[in-house]
Amino acid sequence: MPVESACHGTRDLPSPVHFDSYVVLQRRLTGVVKPYRTRLRVTLSLLSRTDLHLLEHQLGYDKVELADADSWLGQGDRCFLGYIDGRASTRVWLNLRERTLPGNVKLRLGQGRVFIFNGFTLPLMRGYGLFPAVLTAALAWAEENGCEIAYADLRSRNTSSRRAFEKCGFEPLGSFRVVRVLRWERSLLPLRLRRIIADPA
Ligand SMILES: CC(C)(COP(=O)(O)OP(=O)(O)OC[C@H]1O[C@@H](n2cnc3c(N)ncnc32)[C@H](O)[C@@H]1OP(=O)(O)O)[C@@H](O)C(=O)NCCC(=O)NCCS
Repeated sequence: MPVESACHGTRDLPSPVHFDSYVVLQRRLTGVVKPYRTRLRVTLSLLSRTDLHLLEHQLGYDKVELADADSWLGQGDRCFLGYIDGRASTRVWLNLRERTLPGNVKLRLGQGRVFIFNGFTLPLMRGYGLFPAVLTAALAWAEENGCEIAYADLRSRNTSSRRAFEKCGFEPLGSFRVVRVLRWERSLLPLRLRRIIADPA
């Protein structure tokens, strides 16, 4: 909104209201999930609690993130790592119980559903297909463990991430917006999306 400024005439005040746009992607896990072939030799493994230090020393987690990761593993979430020359270079997390979407919407996941979150590849290693490699390993694990459908939520403008998910067979399910006013935020998640992903309870 233009306001009078004492020295410089009119200027625009930054708006305190922000809208962010997100997309929810889905991928059915029926049939065998094929490994994604990268140009690099990547070793994949499931992270155990005793290996948590790798997240700190090789993937840059700070103490708070490390405590979160420990708590997630304790609650049954899974993390897959991809190593290049012995160094953890990419990761993906699987949540099999509930997902808090941007805007603080907590969804208790329906049976056979898994939510992909906290994916990351070291900046210097991006663009080599490492994330699709670790993601397909994680999806294969999820399928073997009874999951039938996987979801992920991404910022709509995160095109790198969207491309990586599309390479693994994910398709858009729907989109939603989050309105933020200073530190207050509210999700405008359509009921249809909520019903598809979450338990009716
Ligand atoms: C999203 C992310 C995990 C993808 O990892 P990745 O191992 O680079 O995945 P890919 O190699 O398949 O690259 C995916 C796309 O990133 C883009 N990309 C390529 N090189 C890139 C680079 N150096 N830097 C950033 N993006 C790049 C390309 O669009 C590529 O798609 P293309 O292969 O069709 O050209 C990674 O970019 C990242 O860590 N981003 C920050 C965290 C994030 O956004 N996480 C959301 C996932 S839940």
